[in-house]
Amino acid sequence: MQENQEKFMEKVYNLNQGKNLKYTILTMGCQLNENDSEKIAGMLEKMSYSECKDVKEADLVIFNTCCVRENAEERLFGKIGEIKKLKESKDVILAIGGCMMQEEVMVEKIKKSYPFVNVIFGTHTLQNLPENIYKAIIENRKVKDVIDIDGEIYEGLPIKRNDNFKASVTIMYGCNNFCTYCIVPYVRGRERSREPEMILEEVKGLAKEGYKEITLLGQNVNSYVGNDKIRNFADLLNEVCKVDGIERIKFISPHPKDFTDDVIDAIANNEKICRIIHLPLQSGNTKVLKEMNRKYTKEQYLVLAEKMKERIPGVVFSTDIIVGFPGETDEEFEDTLDVVRKVNFEQIFMFIYSKREGTVAAAREDQVPEEQKHVRFDKLKDLYESRVDENNDKYLNTHQKLLIEGKSKNNAEMLEGRTDTNKVVVFKPREGNKIGDVVLVNITETHKWYLKGEII
Ligand code: 5AD
Ligand code: SF4
Repeated sequence: MQENQEKFMEKVYNLNQGKNLKYTILTMGCQLNENDSEKIAGMLEKMSYSECKDVKEADLVIFNTCCVRENAEERLFGKIGEIKKLKESKDVILAIGGCMMQEEVMVEKIKKSYPFVNVIFGTHTLQNLPENIYKAIIENRKVKDVIDIDGEIYEGLPIKRNDNFKASVTIMYGCNNFCTYCIVPYVRGRERSREPEMILEEVKGLAKEGYKEITLLGQNVNSYVGNDKIRNFADLLNEVCKVDGIERIKFISPHPKDFTDDVIDAIANNEKICRIIHLPLQSGNTKVLKEMNRKYTKEQYLVLAEKMKERIPGVVFSTDIIVGFPGETDEEFEDTLDVVRKVNFEQIFMFIYSKREGTVAAAREDQVPEEQKHVRFDKLKDLYESRVDENNDKYLNTHQKLLIEGKSKNNAEMLEGRTDTNKVVVFKPREGNKIGDVVLVNITETHKWYLKGEII
């Protein structure tokens, strides 16, 4: 962390002594934002704020925003309105950061319509939060700290993690792909990779603290660029697998175009890497994929999935799919359903295309009518759900390694864990079983959204 920010952290710490001040963070969007929020929490705790869940108790409120889809804006404005009311009865600092704040129109709108917002910060200036909060407290100043250029990578920010057995580690920032529907490259900047040694140091530190599962994060995680020794994503995976104590490794989100053979080999050779691979499809039609600028065809995607199934026994896939991209016809959408049938995804994150100003696709005149988008969404959902039972049945009477995640939500006597394909399994614990342990179970029952098992 930068020295001057450490000084500001100390200054705010001193100001806050004896006041028992509380903070709350509302995180919207993806796991990268969640990881940023963990760093925000880390900085705030060092400034002597403690966490509260109820916004009404908070003295400092942070919104970490997302702008990937449209509805997030309305939600944010509603939340800002709530804080306005709160501010009428007590002194509250409101800071808004994240992807949406990289959009000029949004910042202007907030400055004009919600002048009581104290701090606006972007995705490249997270590390300046101590200084910005200091200014908001001491000078009662409105601070806007957003830069357009790609931020440097700051190492060593304090971090307060959400869980104590699984942790996310961001390995690269930004995206160079410019898929035509996506706002991310405009708000997160160009790709920048962290030094591999720094990543390994963080993972080793986590292992020492008792963490069992690591998720490597990046907007485009498999286009990671290392150095002479650890050259690329495959090398990094191999190195992370060598860290003792870490039992499970996941990564999101890879791009199919960068899924090289060495990455497939790294997965095949390392049992620690989870057997569910996220492989964002977006569309199954080659013409739509070209217009999305995805750089693969329907056939190339299918060949890649087949190759992985052959080389990695037991592998399953999850995916992201957008329905109703501009110009998509019913016939073209059928190709998406065809790929869903062929790959047999274990999990699908389904999205209705949402127009993002400034992207290439938003300027198109052949937008798909809302009703039609919904019809396609429902068709996709029905197809996916119609296959869940059959997919679950494959687990019956198999032995699965579970990482225990906590108590079962419906039955206090049971624990629940996940398989390395991300299936939730509920089971009766043996004495001494605790969160973070890995246990072997036999699957005895299947239910739509969870399985039951018995320890063996
Ligand atoms: N509309 C709908 N979904 C989108 N995504 C990204 N941009 C949009 C958009 N404009 C989806 C993609 C991506 C996921 C994180 O969000 O499927 O993989
Ligand atoms: Fe967006 Fe495409 Fe980059 Fe993913 S790869 S963040 S969808 S532009």
